Amino acid sequence: MNLLTEIRSRFEQALRGMTDEVEPFVAMVKPSQDPRFGDFQANCAMPLGKKLGRNPREVAAEIVEALDVADLCDPPEVAGPGFINLRLQDATIGKLTNDLIPDSRLGHTATERPRTIIVDYSSPNVAKPMHVGHLRSTVIGNAICRILSFQGHRVISDNHIGDWGTQFGMIIFGYKHFLDEASFESDAVNELARLYRLVNQLSEYHEAQASLPDLRTRIERQRSEIADATQESSAKDKAAKQQLKKKRAELAALEERASSLQMKVDTVNDNAELKQIADQFPDIAERARRETAKLHEGDEENRNLWDRFLPTCLEALQSVYQRLGIEFDLALGESHYHPMLAEIVDELQQKDLAGESDGAICIFIEGNDAPFIVRKRDGAFTYATTDLATIRYRCEELKADEIVYVVDARQSEHFRLLFAAARQWGYNKPGYRHVSFGTVLGPDRRPLKTRAGDNVGLESLLDEAVSRARQIVDDNDDSKKDGPELDEVERAAVAETVGIGGIKYADLNHNRESDYVFDWDKMLAKTGDTATYIQYAYARICGIFAKGGIDVGELRQTDAAIQTTFAEERALAFQLLRFSEAVDVAAAECRPNILTQYLFETAESFSTFYGRHDVLKESDSALRTSRLLLCDLTGRTLQKGLALLGISISERM
Ligand code: ARG
Repeated sequence: MNLLTEIRSRFEQALRGMTDEVEPFVAMVKPSQDPRFGDFQANCAMPLGKKLGRNPREVAAEIVEALDVADLCDPPEVAGPGFINLRLQDATIGKLTNDLIPDSRLGHTATERPRTIIVDYSSPNVAKPMHVGHLRSTVIGNAICRILSFQGHRVISDNHIGDWGTQFGMIIFGYKHFLDEASFESDAVNELARLYRLVNQLSEYHEAQASLPDLRTRIERQRSEIADATQESSAKDKAAKQQLKKKRAELAALEERASSLQMKVDTVNDNAELKQIADQFPDIAERARRETAKLHEGDEENRNLWDRFLPTCLEALQSVYQRLGIEFDLALGESHYHPMLAEIVDELQQKDLAGESDGAICIFIEGNDAPFIVRKRDGAFTYATTDLATIRYRCEELKADEIVYVVDARQSEHFRLLFAAARQWGYNKPGYRHVSFGTVLGPDRRPLKTRAGDNVGLESLLDEAVSRARQIVDDNDDSKKDGPELDEVERAAVAETVGIGGIKYADLNHNRESDYVFDWDKMLAKTGDTATYIQYAYARICGIFAKGGIDVGELRQTDAAIQTTFAEERALAFQLLRFSEAVDVAAAECRPNILTQYLFETAESFSTFYGRHDVLKESDSALRTSRLLLCDLTGRTLQKGLALLGISISERM
């Protein structure tokens, strides 16, 4: 049973006679923040009183009068200006907790209305090395899939791989001009990545050189405008001061951009070999674009090269997914939709949904100035065209009821237009949802980069996580009272669990919309809000059973029941009863951080309980069994919750 939902539905009934629109008031029933105010608290009487023009305490009393919770709670209390406090009866907590013991779903009821939900996540652009930005989509998307599946939905995960974009033109161009045969033979992915970086670097070099003079002029102009404004404005003029502040910020941004471009130029100029190639290919960007166009037009040589490159690129991705324990149901890349694009653009034009503007074909979306381009002036189809084809495929072939895109926040505008365009096109049945997320920042609060300024590659990040975790595991094991427990193999396995789990948890635990600072020490800390802390809590519970020689299978069969006499037992039991609520809220909002928070609080609640009460040493045998059952239920909840986030556990750490 989802207790919160149950209590809310009781309020719904009580409120019905009092006002027409009950929903917003029902939503004000929440688990209370402070146990002194009971287990649940409703603060709806204040706004309702205001709406009805009545005294809120009176309204609260009337709600309580109509509220039927006698089977679950002690008599409700009205406090302060009109808060309604509810405390579950100890007997209710006891009974419901005992019901969890034989329940493999730990109190969660699967949905009665399963929907087919496509989750589009990870979706890196192959041939470019995968970086930490893709990690967020991968980790968050995977957790969302697991949570929705657990709810009972038909989830189809689809890795919408960027396997058809401009980066292939760069690689093809690089392959034709700068290939190092020997390194291609020995490590193709590495060599392709090098070629991509090289061509990209040279393209950026020329672009930077072309745009720097203009940028410098703008900076000069901005500087002199600021100088003028400083002289003219009096110190008291607030608006002028604001204006000046804005101009200074703009100047700083321009200067920063110039210095980053200058760095790109200098890096090439300082390297004789690079400089020579750069001079030799001044139009490299254009030529790489030509190679992409030729690939799309069906040029045989380029198509053969693509066929050759793609499998190696996919293999490299696969090894990352394997390490993260992630599998997709589908991995239909952009190339899959290429054959459908021309027809779609024709159809859109025929139906008058798309029209020409400046030589490009665009969909015009009501209330939007920006057109949604489906074919560029040069005839090339776009990211948007492909996404429309993908929507058609998902609706018609996969029978989607809902499509979820786990993609970073910078693409919000794209998805807003895409969803509107799809609805205009007639695909208005499914729900569309952009689950957006912020950037991973370095310690300097800028997008995480390596010291050399490159994106941080995913493989090396995972390696570092595991090697740091290994240190922690070694230290912990070496300092055990009765000497180390783990052999080499086990230590390595635990380090993998802790390292990968730590990275995933950090990603999941932050509110996905905000940027977050990547911090190794915080991420792997043994205490605090980390996977490590929760994993240790789980291992500790396993340790209790191992030490006591307890057979959990037998334990779960006993007639004995969980007692919740002591405050810490009651608090832990109540926390365990909230698992189903945490799952449902996390699913409804596509926010895995609701679940990480829940698990962290559960581990804390366990730790408080275990710190105050004996378990194995308890002499009262019924109480000992009760506490063992509580430990077991906690372990199962932590394990299940972490599994829904894609985080593994170890029985010994
Ligand atoms: N490949 C894209 C990128 O790395 C993300 C694709 C997201 N999915 C989609 N259907 N557009 O930016």
